[in-house]
Amino acid sequence: MEQPVKKQRILSGIQPSGTPTLGNYLGAIRNWKLLEDQYDCLYMVADLHTITVRQEPSLLRARSLQTMALLLAVGLDPEKSILFLQSHVPQHSQMSWLLSCYTYMGEMSRMTQFKDKSRRHAENVNCGLFTYPILMAGDILLYQANLVPVGNDQTQHVEICRDIAARFNSVYGNVFTLPEGYNPKVGARVMSLQEPTRKMSKSDAEDSFISMLDTPDAIRRKFRRAVTDSEARIAFDPANKPGVSNLLSILSALTDESLDSLVERFGGKGYGDLKSAVAEATVETLAPFQQEFNRLMADKAYLQSVCRTGAERAGRLAERTLSKCMKKIGFLAP
Ligand code: TYM
Repeated sequence: MEQPVKKQRILSGIQPSGTPTLGNYLGAIRNWKLLEDQYDCLYMVADLHTITVRQEPSLLRARSLQTMALLLAVGLDPEKSILFLQSHVPQHSQMSWLLSCYTYMGEMSRMTQFKDKSRRHAENVNCGLFTYPILMAGDILLYQANLVPVGNDQTQHVEICRDIAARFNSVYGNVFTLPEGYNPKVGARVMSLQEPTRKMSKSDAEDSFISMLDTPDAIRRKFRRAVTDSEARIAFDPANKPGVSNLLSILSALTDESLDSLVERFGGKGYGDLKSAVAEATVETLAPFQQEFNRLMADKAYLQSVCRTGAERAGRLAERTLSKCMKKIGFLAP
């Protein structure tokens, strides 16, 4: 009898540090769904990662469940993929300590996200902010993931994960699979609507991002107010026309129409036309997710059971890798 081919594995995650944005959807979550059948997938609400910045406890709890509900609402199937909360699988914290002893200070201080966040949160440059990529490397390596679908801003973290894994392997033999990052062709870097030279982020000012739970009115208002330029010429030119180029990219990602075709179609039209087209495409994409989200949030018992089952399944896989690592390093088995 022919053996079924073993599927390759995916691990990815999202922080519950706010309501997921259109950037999170186009850069990551949409791909998670597209890859679900081809790969053996684990998708995680990365709650441990959020505390590098102070979190209000009740908000963190609410957002963690909300983020899980949104992942289900976009169609991720807990029967196919393992969906879980990072803090429910203690092996993540344990692995992080082990790997931190195989990572150099110099490597961490070169991370652009660390440099950026330590500037923005100058009052709280904690050690967790510095070692964050090590926790993330552990997330990926615990599951021997082959592929990590992420937006562009996480590429550097996936690369450092490979470096740490290769270093560990060079000492102890083939313990870790070396993962590859995977970015979407369009939507890998959705920019802020207010400062289109920066990425759209769920922890920025309200008007700068579209949340996946925004009402149609809020979506229209935010796009109407989106910063463009004074040229009144629709062209894709991210360096000189970041605002307009961002709107075109979002529309292209949402409708699958190429940038060239959009530029041609909107040639001669005003920015207002482009803005309302992007707004309508966004409303249309998000509406079914929001409906399903509301249904799921009314069924907390179901959400909790998904989290519980996911954590059990993830924990079994994680433990296998963690104990292998500990044995290699020389820890006595309990
Ligand atoms: P987070 O929560 O910032 O974002 C989740 C995913 O969304 C992508 N993303 C974007 N894509 C396009 N445009 C944007 N404006 C945009 N903003 C965010 C991110 O690239 C990411 O793929 N450290 C991670 C979470 C994490 C993780 C992991 C990811 C923890 N452990 C292991 C992969 C593997 C983070 O903060 O993502």
